Amino acid sequence: MVEKKFKCPDCGKVASYSGMHGELKTIYCPYCGSKGRARLPELKHGDDLAIEVSDLRKEYGDLVAVNNISFSVKKGEIFAFLGPNGAGKTTTVEMIESIRQPTAGTIKLIGKNIKTHFNEVKKDIGVLPQEFLSFERLTVKETLVYFSKLYKKRADIDEIIEAMDLKSCEKMLYRNLSGGLKQRVGVAIALVNDPDIVFLDEPTTGLDPKARRDVWKVIANLRKKGKTVFLTTHYMEEAEYLADHIAIIHKGKIIAEGTLDELINRYGKGSLLRIKQCKTEGAVESLKEKGFTATYESNGDIAVKIDYKDIVLDVLSNLRHECIEYESIDVRRSNLEEIFLHLTGSKLSEEET
Ligand SMILES: Nc1ncnc2c1ncn2[C@@H]1O[C@H](COP(=O)(O)OP(=O)(O)OP(=O)(O)O)[C@@H](O)[C@H]1O
Ligand SMILES: [Mg+2]
Repeated sequence: MVEKKFKCPDCGKVASYSGMHGELKTIYCPYCGSKGRARLPELKHGDDLAIEVSDLRKEYGDLVAVNNISFSVKKGEIFAFLGPNGAGKTTTVEMIESIRQPTAGTIKLIGKNIKTHFNEVKKDIGVLPQEFLSFERLTVKETLVYFSKLYKKRADIDEIIEAMDLKSCEKMLYRNLSGGLKQRVGVAIALVNDPDIVFLDEPTTGLDPKARRDVWKVIANLRKKGKTVFLTTHYMEEAEYLADHIAIIHKGKIIAEGTLDELINRYGKGSLLRIKQCKTEGAVESLKEKGFTATYESNGDIAVKIDYKDIVLDVLSNLRHECIEYESIDVRRSNLEEIFLHLTGSKLSEEET
């Protein structure tokens, strides 16, 4: 959606109308009722981008922590920056937040180069830093009120408490909250200025699975509210569950980027149906004759590629028709762990310290 101001040719007052880029609209002056037609501006290259990073580099002495990376994040999407410990995630995100200075490269937020125009965009961003802590002796609500007073533009605190599911603990002291609640307060603090872009650096690290899922829910809520979310994580499930767009960073370089489906199609094996402990001779050949892409795996199981939705039913009816005997079947899709292994030769979980 885009909003445009207009000056009424009859009464001279200024009002606005909104719609999609390039849309021809009938507009009415809310002051004198005059009617006219106008077209909203076409989308220009880059208008739909919240973050644009080009050739970004950061050196700490001899160490190249971020090695000339480029990527962009669209407005309204959840972007996951996924990588193991020390990959360069925090260094990158803190350069985008203008906390650390790049050695080289360009960063734009909402079309503005932050080197020259950061003051114009800082009101539009919210930040949850890694290993965030807050005031021990303030309640949840007092904490949010305190942080909101730092900004001119303020969101409604009660709405944030509702959206972050913090109502039941709004009167509790920060120090008495569980780890998961503390992280949700952290996300809530990042929202007090009603930002368009929210940076969350490892918001669920160290949380138990239930608390992690609760934080995921509040992050998914941010997308519903139209926010752009830049999420750094070393949890693949988190990126798989939440992200519209994923960049995998390893040793300062982006080694893969795209939607989950794009990454799986490009680097993974797609979805496979596995026929376990098949006891019928020539089963693979029989499946191949019927047009299925079937192969023996190293343990003797048979893998059949699932290229379209109904193929599972077709394979099963073929197994029955050909009287092929087997112990069990399972259907699995490639995941980010497999892709990371394929690209780096090691498991993401094993790179953790
Ligand atoms: N201020 C600094 N001075 C020197 N080296 C640094 C500094 N900050 C980070 N590094 C180094 O840069 C590399 C990238 O660190 P960074 O914190 O960006 O990684 P990360 O992906 O956020 O890791 P983690 O998952 O542990 O948070 C690491 O080797 C780290 O030791
Ligand atoms: Mg980090």
